[in-house]
Amino acid sequence: MPVETIASIAALRSRRADVRRSGRTVGLVPTMGALHAGHERLIEQARRESDCVVVSIFVNPIQFDRQDDLQRYPRTLDADRAVCERLGVDLIFAPTAEEMYPEPPQLTVDVGPLGDHLCGPFRPGHFRGVATVVLKLFEIVQPDRAYFGEKDAQQLAIIRRLVRDLNVPTAIAGVATVREADGLALSSRNQRLSADERRLATALFQALREAERQIGAGERDPAVIRERAAARIPSSPHLRLEYLEIVDPDSLQPAAVVQPPVRVAGALWVGSTRLIDNLLIA
Ligand code: PAJ
Repeated sequence: MPVETIASIAALRSRRADVRRSGRTVGLVPTMGALHAGHERLIEQARRESDCVVVSIFVNPIQFDRQDDLQRYPRTLDADRAVCERLGVDLIFAPTAEEMYPEPPQLTVDVGPLGDHLCGPFRPGHFRGVATVVLKLFEIVQPDRAYFGEKDAQQLAIIRRLVRDLNVPTAIAGVATVREADGLALSSRNQRLSADERRLATALFQALREAERQIGAGERDPAVIRERAAARIPSSPHLRLEYLEIVDPDSLQPAAVVQPPVRVAGALWVGSTRLIDNLLIA
């Protein structure tokens, strides 16, 4: 049976009320669609842990800092519905932009110092847009649990802090990053890579692994670790390392001396595609 797909907030709220009356728990997997095996891992975990699994599919315009990225973002609702059906999802919430933002929001979520490093400075307004739409989704779906990938570690840390600081009664589950055989983290944006770019794209993971090796070998100077890790990126006109940082996993602040547990995270431009990845080093 095809998965029930709901586009209206009112209809979703009414289904949510039914589920509450029946005493069943709700697990939410927020996505922007173009579902791949990384998203599938989140949905599978939600399926195991919740009675009713809701997947939201919404390409959130207010989190895009570049118009071309928003326009080029893949939209594959039919294929996404097939994935959800195969994984036993109960409900897809796929609102339009007009439904979510009948007018531009005047109040949004300020993510504070959690947005000061890593992707934050390079994507102005991005995490404000993410935190705002996730809080809206939480208010609409009212999930008992919500699932986020460690692939987007800064996003995950911000959401964990959002529910804590704003008393949102939703438990947050982090799910390990799903990778290709060569280490490339699965991402909807990988679809845009040419065959040559795809071969080069593993460089980010290789750089992060080098940082992990350096820290494992006892190196504590972030500048030295960064330099040795960056040396793993081949010099190519198609590659540009945007940042590679070592931060505290919760506060996302860099330290003068690297003291595990830390998260090493980076962003690499491969042609006109920006890829991100990270490793937790315990
Ligand atoms: P999207 O990029 O579609 O990702 C949806 C969820 O899938 C996120 O929690 C992300 O971390 C997770 N994910 C993506 N690639 C993964 C991988 N290779 N392994 C494990 N998990 C992976 O992230 C967003 O959408 C949006 O910002 C959203 C939270 C939906 C708000 O608009």
